[in-house]
Parts: sequence; structure tokens; C-alpha cells
Amino acid sequence: MKNFRFECLINGMWRASSDGKTTPVTNPSSKKLLANVPSLSKSDVQSAIDSAGKAFELWREIPARKRSDLLLGLANLIIAHTDTLAATITAEQGKPLAESRGEITYAANYFRWFSEEAVRINGDIIPSDSNSKRIMVIKQPIGVVAAITPWNFPLAMLARKMAAALAAGCSFIAKPAPETPLTALALAALTLEAGIPAGVVNVITGDAEMIGAALMHSPTVRKVTFTGSTEVGKILIRQSAETVKKLTLELGGNAPLVVCDDADISKAVEGAVFGKFRNAGQTCICVNRFLVHEKVAPQFTDALITRAKQLVVGDGMNSATDIGPLINNDALAKVTRLVESASREGAKVNLPPAPTPAGSTFFPPTVISNITPQMSIWKEEIFGPVCAIATFANDEEAIALANNTPHGLAAYLYSTNLNRALSLAERLDFGMVGINDTSISAAQAPFGGIKESGFGREGSKYGIDDYLVLKYLSVQS
Ligand code: SIN
Repeated sequence: MKNFRFECLINGMWRASSDGKTTPVTNPSSKKLLANVPSLSKSDVQSAIDSAGKAFELWREIPARKRSDLLLGLANLIIAHTDTLAATITAEQGKPLAESRGEITYAANYFRWFSEEAVRINGDIIPSDSNSKRIMVIKQPIGVVAAITPWNFPLAMLARKMAAALAAGCSFIAKPAPETPLTALALAALTLEAGIPAGVVNVITGDAEMIGAALMHSPTVRKVTFTGSTEVGKILIRQSAETVKKLTLELGGNAPLVVCDDADISKAVEGAVFGKFRNAGQTCICVNRFLVHEKVAPQFTDALITRAKQLVVGDGMNSATDIGPLINNDALAKVTRLVESASREGAKVNLPPAPTPAGSTFFPPTVISNITPQMSIWKEEIFGPVCAIATFANDEEAIALANNTPHGLAAYLYSTNLNRALSLAERLDFGMVGINDTSISAAQAPFGGIKESGFGREGSKYGIDDYLVLKYLSVQS
């Protein structure tokens, strides 16, 4: 990969912090230091905002077809660098190499998809009440976009924001999570290689609070897109008031997986394995609450335990590994607390976590039943490879239990009766529902939630609207 440096990209140039400060990035599996990245000062952050502000004036004038070609070129470069990018993701994030490779295809798909959308930003002509008047609606880029991205998908979450913003004609500032900045810097290097003009993409690293506040308070930044916790999302909503910024928020989830008594149990178990253990349970759309019909609960639980026992926990670089480490000690402490409190509160730990080396953040697959809705493990986002199983007696009860959460990101259900499945899906208060399917993420599908899981959609034909503003032209002849 040409140009790749452990520095920030501002106005097309690699930059250290002006005061020389850095932050370490470590491998969550080996705990070894991978790199030190700049911890930018406030004035460095301002120079990234200024750079994006200037570049916006240039980028918005570049014809859509040209922007589209550049994005497609970037998609191809991402695929061409799969090996390096996958190794970087696994090193800093921990997920198994095969999952990292999957993430790269997923990320490249966003650039490919939005390269195709860039040339379809069509307006409207609306009939007026008078023959001498025309009403036209055009769509224009919103301006400078700042993206605050999470550590669980260091490439894909950045790609789905950057691709849509650039396709719309916006310039872009990325602030990756402090745990996983290296993948974002690698993507920054590829944007240069793809020929995207200087300043259109800026990637900055450093203190999350200071950078977040600088981006939120800047009148130049017209939109902020964030994937992360509901808690931080609420802070951003409050901060956005000052400059009336547009937001896209993809926040926490608490996904239920409903297994009906007529479900194909082996398919439901395979869906559960993917939907729960992907990325060691560290995705916003991971199954958090298993809701299994009481008639099939013993069969489902036994089969899930059998499959969970087959999963190999270890370093993501090892090709046999299915489940890598949790991202850090805080994550480990949270998952441990939730399992211990469920056990204290009367849940049955059918498959306890197998012992792991002291000091590591590995958390082996765990299956717990007899869960009740009062338990913390039911109410909080686990973000770890723990299956919490409750039962229900009828569809009404399943819907009431599934919807009883402030979150509304993803939900899943298994039934062989399509009519029943569709009517249950319509009653689930979530932005995305997988029917006999837990692999729901795709560039062409609208990703996003309702309620406290946020607003706005990413990917799909809807995703570009979040980066556009409508302008109405009233033309009198
Ligand atoms: C997330 O965890 O927020 C994203 C997961 C995905 O895109 O599949």
C-alpha cells in the first residue's frame, strides 16, 4: 500500500500532532503495541475542518460521473489490498482473519454501490398553479461531513459513511475509534492512491471528547454521522442544537431473536450462531435476547450448546479461530458482570465460559437459560458471545417481550409459516427484521434503527439522502 503512514491525513498531507503527542494502539489479543498515532491538538483539528471546508467547494463541482469513477476506483483498490487490510483489522480489532476479509468485501461494496448512486441524484419538476411558473427541486450536497466511527468494524462503518458522503459531493472528516485507527489511516492512503483530491478526505486521531466537541461546535461541519452508543448519541443530539447540524445516528441495539414453535430448529441454530458469535458478539445487531417458544426451547438450547462448544476461541490470525478477544478490559468486565448477575438472579448457566489465560480478554461462548425480563443481561447490550434465553407461550407474549426495550435496531424471527412470520415482523418495533435470516447487512439495504437506536439510514438508495439537502427553485418566466 503506497503512502501508508501512522499519521493523520489532512489536506492530502500526512501530519503528526503539532505538539508531538501520540496515543498507543495495541493488539487486543497479544496486547503488543502496534503503533503510536497522533493525538492531535485543537488547532490541528481546526486545520482538518478548514481543509474539508475548502475542498468541499471543489468536490461539489466535480461532475457526478467523475466522482462515481473515483469511488469505483477506490472500491477496486480496497479489494486489491484485501490481505494488508485484513491483517490490519485483525491486528487492531481482534476478529478472525476470515471475518476481516468479509468486512473488506462489505466495505468495498459500499463504495461500489454509492459510485452507482452518485450519478442518480435526480431532482423533480412539480406542476405549478400558473403557466408562467415552474417549480423545480434540486438535490445538493449538505457540505462538510464529519464521521465518528466505532472499533467493531473499523473499515466497513467508515466506508458506508464515506462512500455516501463523497457520492453526494460532500467533503469528509473521519474520526476513527481510538482502539482501531490504523485501518482508517490505511483507507486514507487508498483514497490518495485512488486520486481523490486533497482535502476531500481527512482522517484525524486523538482525544475523542476534544475532537468530538470541535467537530460538533464548528459551523463549517454541516453534518455528523455517528455509529456507537446511545449514551454518546444523546450527547451529540444536544451538541448539534448549537449549529443546527444534521445527524445520522446508528446507536445501540438490543436485538431479539424469536424462535416460533414451527421454526426449522437447525436453521434457527445456525442463524443464532452467526447472529450471536460474529465478531465475538460485538456488533450492534448481534442477537442480545433469545426468545424461544416453550415447546421447542429444550431442543433449541441443546442444539445451540452443541454448536457453541465447537467454536474455537483464540487469536484472530490463527485460521482455526472462530471467536477472537473482546476489544479491551472494560468490555470483558461488562460481559463478566452481566453473566455473574444473571446467575445470581436465578438464571441457569448451561454452558459456562471456559477458562482463559489470566490477563487476556477472551470470553468463550456461553449459554444461559431461565432468563427473565427483569435481569440486567436482558436489558443491557451484552456485546459479547453470551446467549441469554427466555421462553414464551404464544405470539402475543413474544411480541410484547421483544418490543419491551427502548432500542429498535434489529430483530430476527424464525418460523416456517411465512404468513405468521410476516405478520410478526410487521409488529416488531425495529428498523430491520431478519426472517429466517440473521445475515442482514448489505450495501443495497437500508441499515438503521428507530426509538433510541437512532435515526437516518445508511446504505441503499435511501442512504444518500442523509447527505443531501433539497433546494426548491420557483421560476417565473
Ligand atoms: C454495527 O455493529 O453497528 C454494524 C454491523 C453491520 O453492519 O453488520
